[in-house]
Amino acid sequence: MIFEQVATGGCQSYLIGCPETRQAALIDPEESRADRYLALAAQDGLTIRFLIDTHTHADHFSGAAALARRIGAARVRHRAAPAPGVSMRVDDGETILLGKLRIGVLHTPGHTADSMCLLLPDRVFTGDTLLIGGTGRTDLPSGDPEQLYDSLFDKLLKLDPALQVYPAHDYKGRSHSTIGDEIASNPRLQVRERAAFVAMMRNLNLSAPTHLTEALRTNMSGGKTVAQMLAEAEAQVPFMAMAELRSRLDAAPGALIVLDVRERDAYEAGHVPGARLLPRGQLELRVNQELPDPTARIVCCCEFGRISTLAAATLHQMGFSRVVALDGGMKAWREAGMPLAQGPAG
Ligand SMILES: [Fe+2]
Repeated sequence: MIFEQVATGGCQSYLIGCPETRQAALIDPEESRADRYLALAAQDGLTIRFLIDTHTHADHFSGAAALARRIGAARVRHRAAPAPGVSMRVDDGETILLGKLRIGVLHTPGHTADSMCLLLPDRVFTGDTLLIGGTGRTDLPSGDPEQLYDSLFDKLLKLDPALQVYPAHDYKGRSHSTIGDEIASNPRLQVRERAAFVAMMRNLNLSAPTHLTEALRTNMSGGKTVAQMLAEAEAQVPFMAMAELRSRLDAAPGALIVLDVRERDAYEAGHVPGARLLPRGQLELRVNQELPDPTARIVCCCEFGRISTLAAATLHQMGFSRVVALDGGMKAWREAGMPLAQGPAG
């Protein structure tokens, strides 16, 4: 078997390939590492057929949907997974054929209702059901400590103790352990009595993972993250450096339209001299009165340079072919000592 492990922070992704047919599956891809996975597959001469998420992740963004669109591979999830756009839904006891390899599916709810473990002859990919020296938490949406107890003690821990354990997370840089090692030394698995185990899981009082709501929203719905919206906008419009804008304003003040898309109070407190005010929230409403010339050269600006990028992309989509966004926002403009005007729009 061809095998690659890719750690991204604490997240672990796995590329497994059949050496005879060169077919591969990518387990728990992380959104930011798509190019890395594709490069590894190319280096190993593999074609990725399956993109498998072991469960609905709450702490990072799954790369499966975007990769599926990009390379045409099938997305595989447990049948309880809420995500749309899944090509193959699997359940307990079923087998995924990967060339000559056979990947067994174990439904192991508890961390989430759609958690599954993936079984190969010498190893098991445990998702967040079993971690090295830990288990997944059960206090996030669809988590259930009673189910986790059953999944661990009645299912996973009954597998061959020599099986290697590859989890979806490890925050200490370890690559794997074995079922036997976990039974012997994983602190949570020493609590073998059901009620005590459930009570322990209910009283962990863990803090919520960063990006929780955004990760759940996008992983469950297939929607976009704010970072993806910004990246798409950045790919649509050019930017103008602050010094470039200043020298152009000095040379020919009326040659371009500086469009300030912040709210009125922010504009009045300090704006680029000659800038027009058109708050982002009113852009579509007032665009026809305010910007009659679709060939005008427009520079969008806002406080931090992000909303102006989205506004510029919106104007570009509306047909303003020469719209650009200011590289940086008014905060950076002020800090650079660039000229400012105060008061209401003229
Ligand atoms: Fe998880």
